[in-house]
Amino acid sequence: MSNAAAKLIAAQLRRKPDSVLGLATGSTPLGIYRELARMHREEGLDFGGVRTFNLDEYYGLAPEHPQSYRYFMDENLLRHVNIDPKNVHIPGGLVKDIEASCSEYEASIGQAGGIDIQLLGIGRDGHIAFNEPGSSLGSRTRLKTLAQETISDNARFFRSLDEVPRFAITMGVGTILESRHIVLLASGVEKSDAVRQALEGPVTSEITASALQLHSTVTAFLDDAAAEKLKRRDYYKYVESMRQVVGQEDL
Ligand code: GLP
Repeated sequence: MSNAAAKLIAAQLRRKPDSVLGLATGSTPLGIYRELARMHREEGLDFGGVRTFNLDEYYGLAPEHPQSYRYFMDENLLRHVNIDPKNVHIPGGLVKDIEASCSEYEASIGQAGGIDIQLLGIGRDGHIAFNEPGSSLGSRTRLKTLAQETISDNARFFRSLDEVPRFAITMGVGTILESRHIVLLASGVEKSDAVRQALEGPVTSEITASALQLHSTVTAFLDDAAAEKLKRRDYYKYVESMRQVVGQEDL
């Protein structure tokens, strides 16, 4: 799963060296970042012109906090590739004027020409970035109060439940939908309900990932466990095998 997604990103960077990548955190994209770092090291994959925008950041955590998403990105990707630090954008976890900084974030995505590929994981409750159930499907970058389920899911990274931040700054669903290509990743049976509702359920703000059904270009990379509850799983596999027939096997 990770290798296939990393290949897609590498193809994008070769086609357009100054691509704008939307990056995600969490355990799911770790394998992709490892593979991209390897491609940089061994195959010279060039990040020199790449611009990045991360989806979200915990509000209240300093960049050097080991659980901040800034720290995560530095450790797992950025310090392993030749990206220019001035091209890296991650919402600030300690900003004072939240509204102004969220508008600036949106504006800088626009100035960069929009996001070419946006990576996304999915929460067990079907959220993307930190767009918790009930988030407007037109939402923009803003401060979001985390749901209890998300707080307890993420508690494994902190010493105690009390240390998990209660807020995050996150791109909105509307922001995400403006990316040119969205890559959704999910692995493990614990994501299978969210995946089914996101891809085959009704479009609803209760499952913010279901908004992806409104986008023209979404690629989902799922392992078998995450895909096991999909009704049309056999059809998707058939479609995949038919790509060769129409010469689109590299999509
Ligand atoms: C957090 C992040 C999401 C991520 C989700 C799932 O809520 N804000 O971007 O998709 O966790 O994380 P994991 O990949 O660790 O399951």
